[in-house]
Amino acid sequence: MAYPYTHEKETRVLSRGFGDPATRTLAGWKALEGYEGLRKALGMSREEVVETVKSSGLRGRGGAGFPTGVKWSFMPKEKKGPHYLCCNADESEPGTFKDRELLRWTPHQVIEGCLIGAYAMQAEHVYIYCRGEFFEAVQVLAKALEEAYAANLAGEDILGSGVSIDVTIHSGAGAYICGEETALMNSLEGRRGLPRIKPPFPAAVGAFGKPTTINNVETLAAIPHILRHGGEWYRQWGTERSPGTKLFCVSGHVKLPGNYELPLGFPMKELIYDVCGGFHEGRSLKAVIPGGSSVPLMNAEECESCTLDYEGVVKAGSMLGCASVIVMDDTANVVKQVRRMVDFYAHESCGQCTPCREGTQWTARILKRIETGKGTEEDLDTLLELGVQMTGTTICVLSDSAAAPVASSIAKFRDDYLALIRRGERVGAA
Ligand SMILES: Cc1cc2nc3c(=O)[nH]c(=O)nc-3n(C[C@H](O)[C@H](O)[C@H](O)COP(=O)(O)O)c2cc1C
Ligand code: SF4
Repeated sequence: MAYPYTHEKETRVLSRGFGDPATRTLAGWKALEGYEGLRKALGMSREEVVETVKSSGLRGRGGAGFPTGVKWSFMPKEKKGPHYLCCNADESEPGTFKDRELLRWTPHQVIEGCLIGAYAMQAEHVYIYCRGEFFEAVQVLAKALEEAYAANLAGEDILGSGVSIDVTIHSGAGAYICGEETALMNSLEGRRGLPRIKPPFPAAVGAFGKPTTINNVETLAAIPHILRHGGEWYRQWGTERSPGTKLFCVSGHVKLPGNYELPLGFPMKELIYDVCGGFHEGRSLKAVIPGGSSVPLMNAEECESCTLDYEGVVKAGSMLGCASVIVMDDTANVVKQVRRMVDFYAHESCGQCTPCREGTQWTARILKRIETGKGTEEDLDTLLELGVQMTGTTICVLSDSAAAPVASSIAKFRDDYLALIRRGERVGAA
C-alpha cells in the first residue's frame, strides 16, 4: 500500500503516478508512454481527434458530466480569430481533492491533455486556471511546463508538426465562484469573478470574447490515454452511458479516506466498506453526500444498492457531481454539517442574484438558529420555501447547490432537525 492508501480493486489509469515523484518529471512521464497521445493526435486530423474522444464516451469530470467530445464539437470549425481552451483547476468544492493530486503528481498528464484538446479545437492558447491556494501544485506544474517547452512539446511548431500552442498558468485569488466557467473567464480577463448570463455560450463568445472551451483537470487528464489507446479501449471500464474510470475522493468517517480510481458503476457500499475500510468499531452508516457538497444527501437505505455512475446515483436519489464522496456515520449531526455547507455557499455567493445573495444568508441564519436549539418546526417550512425560490432562478447554479442539501436533509433526516428543535423547547430556549 502506497500513496497514502491504494486498493487492489482500483484501476489506476490517471492515478498511476500518484505518490511517485518521478512522474512529475518529463522523463518519468515519458517512461509511462507520456506524450505518445499528443504525438498520435498531431498525426491525425482535428476532426479525427474529436471523433476519438466522442467514441470513448468520456463525460466531463467537473460536475455536470456533459460528453466531452460533443462539447469540443461545438467550437466553430471555421476559424475567424483566436480560439482558447481553459483547463479548470479551481477545485474548491468542499470534499473535492482530486484535481490537486493530478496536478501535483502528474502535471505532464494534464499538460498533454491540454495540448491535445487545444489541437482538436484549433486553440492557439491554453489557460490553466488554478485555485489560488494550490501553491505546491502550481510550482510543480510550472516546472513541468518549462520542461515541456524546452522539449518542443509546447510553444512554436510542436514536434515539427507546424502546430503552435502556448500554455499559461493563471493563479486565481481563492474564490470558489471562479470555478464556474463564465466567472473563470471574467477572472482570467482581469474582471471580477462574476458568472455571465448564458447564452451566449463560451464556444461562441468565451474568454476575451472569443470561442472558448472550459474543461476540468480530470477530463483533460484522461485525454492522452484515450488518444493513445482509442475510444473502445476506454470503454472497457464503466457502463454503457458512463464509460471509463473515475477518481473518487472519499472523506469523512471511513477508516481509509483518500483518492481512489475505480471504474464507473462501482458499488457504493463496496467503496465504503471494502476499499475505504468501513467505519470504526460500533459505528454504522448514516448519510452520504456522493458528489461534493452541491448534491442531495443520501440515507443509508439509498446507499444500499447504489452504483457509482451518473445514472446509478440519480436513480438512488442524488447526483454523482464530481464524485467527492463525503461519508457520515451515526455520530454525525446532519444539521450541523448542512449548516456548515450553507455557510460556505453564503460566503462564496458573488451576490449578483437576489435569491442566492439573500437566500443563502437567510438559510444559514435559520439553520444556525435550529442548531443552537432556538428553532421551530415552522422554520423547516421556511427553509423548504426558500429552497424553492433559490432553485432555477439565478445566473449560475451556486444557489441551487446551496438549496439541495437543505431540502434533502429535511426530507431524509427530519428527526435530526426535530430533536434539536424539541430539545430547545424543553429547555425553554425558543
Ligand atoms: C459555483 C460553481 C463552481 C464550480 N467549480 C468548478 C471547479 O472548481 N472545477 C471544475 O472543473 N468545474 C467547476 N464548475 C463547473 C464548471 O462551470 C464547468 O462546467 C466545468 O469546468 C466543465 O468541465 P467539464 O466539461 O470537463 O466537466 C463549477 C460550477 C459552479 C456552478
Ligand atoms: S447564483 Fe449566486 S453565485 Fe451564481 S451568479 Fe447568482 S449570486 Fe452569483
